[in-house]
Amino acid sequence: MCGIVGYAGARPALEIVLDGLRRLEYRGYDSAGVAIVCDGELQTEKKAGKLANLEKLLAERAAATDGDSGLGIGDGPTGIGHTRWATHGGPTDRNAHPHQASDGDVAVIHNGIIENFAKLRGELEDAGVQFRSDTDTECAAHLLAAALTELRAAGEENSPQLLAKAMQQVCLRLEGAFTLLAVDAAIPGAVVGARRNSPLVVGRGQGENYLASDVAAFIEHTREAVELGQDQIVLITADTIEITDFDGQPASGTDFHVDWDASAAEKGGYDWFMLKEIEEQPQAIADTLLGRLTENGQIMLDEVRISDEDLRDVDKIFIVACGTAYHSGMVAKYAIEHWTRIPCEVELASEFRYRDPVLDRSTLVVVISQSGETMDTLMALRHAKEQKARVLAVCNTNGSTIPRESDAVLYTHGGPEIAVASTKAFLTQLVACYLIGLHLAQVRGIKYADEVAAVVAQLHQVPEKLRELLGRIEPVRELARELKSAPTVLFIGRHVGYPVALEGALKLKELAYMHAEGFAAGELKHGPIALIDEGTPVICIVPSAAGRSMLHDKVVSNIQEVRARGARTIVIAEEGDRAVEPYADHLIYVPRTPTLLAPLVTTVPLQVLAAEIAAARGHDVDQPRNLAKSVTVE
Ligand code: F6R
Repeated sequence: MCGIVGYAGARPALEIVLDGLRRLEYRGYDSAGVAIVCDGELQTEKKAGKLANLEKLLAERAAATDGDSGLGIGDGPTGIGHTRWATHGGPTDRNAHPHQASDGDVAVIHNGIIENFAKLRGELEDAGVQFRSDTDTECAAHLLAAALTELRAAGEENSPQLLAKAMQQVCLRLEGAFTLLAVDAAIPGAVVGARRNSPLVVGRGQGENYLASDVAAFIEHTREAVELGQDQIVLITADTIEITDFDGQPASGTDFHVDWDASAAEKGGYDWFMLKEIEEQPQAIADTLLGRLTENGQIMLDEVRISDEDLRDVDKIFIVACGTAYHSGMVAKYAIEHWTRIPCEVELASEFRYRDPVLDRSTLVVVISQSGETMDTLMALRHAKEQKARVLAVCNTNGSTIPRESDAVLYTHGGPEIAVASTKAFLTQLVACYLIGLHLAQVRGIKYADEVAAVVAQLHQVPEKLRELLGRIEPVRELARELKSAPTVLFIGRHVGYPVALEGALKLKELAYMHAEGFAAGELKHGPIALIDEGTPVICIVPSAAGRSMLHDKVVSNIQEVRARGARTIVIAEEGDRAVEPYADHLIYVPRTPTLLAPLVTTVPLQVLAAEIAAARGHDVDQPRNLAKSVTVE
């Protein structure tokens, strides 16, 4: 939810920390702040609003004080920075991180929610501590300062290890989910971090080390990273990385190499990351498919700790995810049930565990998450594991919590997705789900290798089809300008077109802040058709007539029904489908694709439409209001 950066090295920390925050701003942009340790002093600055507000403030300070770094505060080589998505306390200057204890020496930043904060705050206030913010984080700052004072009083010398020891004590008192980073003016050169149920990775540099919520923050400086385990403390200095558990016992992380470079996290000439990520979809699909089919025709996942025998015993599948990832799961259900004949249910992660789903050893739970950190999905995963179900994760982020806790993983190789609205994550999740369906069908002996290879070959054709579609997308941009003032936009589809309709509506809501709803086309006449007024735009996703002509004809009838009631119909159909022409006020042809795979192409015009309408309405396409990329609270 929030973005966190820490640096210990020899270079001025402020520029490095600010640069890291720029790359993490997609995680939250309600406020930003930094704390730099400079000549035994702690210098902090923080500001409500986007990072640009903080940068402006720093520039003003620099102009007024001639700051050493030219950025308004000193150029010490140790620092931390934070970009916030508010949970406890509104998005104001005083609630922005870092938070400091009363002595002003300790600064703490935090991602997550400290669930016992009210109790802790009460205790601290009873002991005379005065709070300066409404945040739960401030408790951690006061507790850390108190732990340091006690340890020093007991004769401990100032050293980086003292900071780690104090942090261990703090973590033992905290409940909930947190990543914490802290510095202490009296212990220069060290940054301590802690994590429980919230992301934190270490960047291993030469004579400098980094801590961050996500590798994007330090990818420009190093591609060597360390994944931390649950309930671990990490202490970095310029030359060392020490990891312990919350009891101070030595622990270790897992080294990994990041296989994309800094340019992947740059806009590369596009106005918005989202537009760049839409254009990257053909490559993202190709990368996700790479090496999936072995020479003897077997589908390969990435990490599989479930035996083929157990996969053969699966008698029920749940797909669990949130938002866009949930829509990819809805599409997956059609393919998986069709190919494997195993009953498959799709559930919102936030609902799943609260309704006591029936799970056992022969249930396979597929969790889908771009970030691998979505708390609702993580909690659903843990619930499934408690019930002894096997969990297979589809994830785009190596080293994140969800794949680590799963029994098997299929990584989508979409590369970093910076725009808050998911695009390439969605399409690569679809590809991953198709592969899972084929793998299950293969393991269970339902599909022969040549049948699997035929579907994989169709998938391999999708990148080229998308390139062609994206090359002639201009009319969709023009349409966006026409639709930008519509009071409401409706989306209809059947079969796999239904989740596409939901996804199109979600994109429009989150980016353009317009009323938009997706419906199963056949359901419209049971109520929602009353919404249709003269000129109401209705975007209709039409399935291929090939193979399932009845499905196609039903949607064409639904288009006629809405048009008869005054709707302005915007029809997305496959090339050569002349049957829709008489009923389309605006027709968008997409390349021919087999029905089950069609969402890989029909979704793309809807992504472009939403981004362009948002831009035409003057909104920030990459960072829509009230949202954050990675939702690490329930
Ligand atoms: C919408 C969007 C969200 C995410 C959802 C799950 O454009 O991006 O709905 O899909 O928050 O996130 P992950 O996939 O990271 O679990």
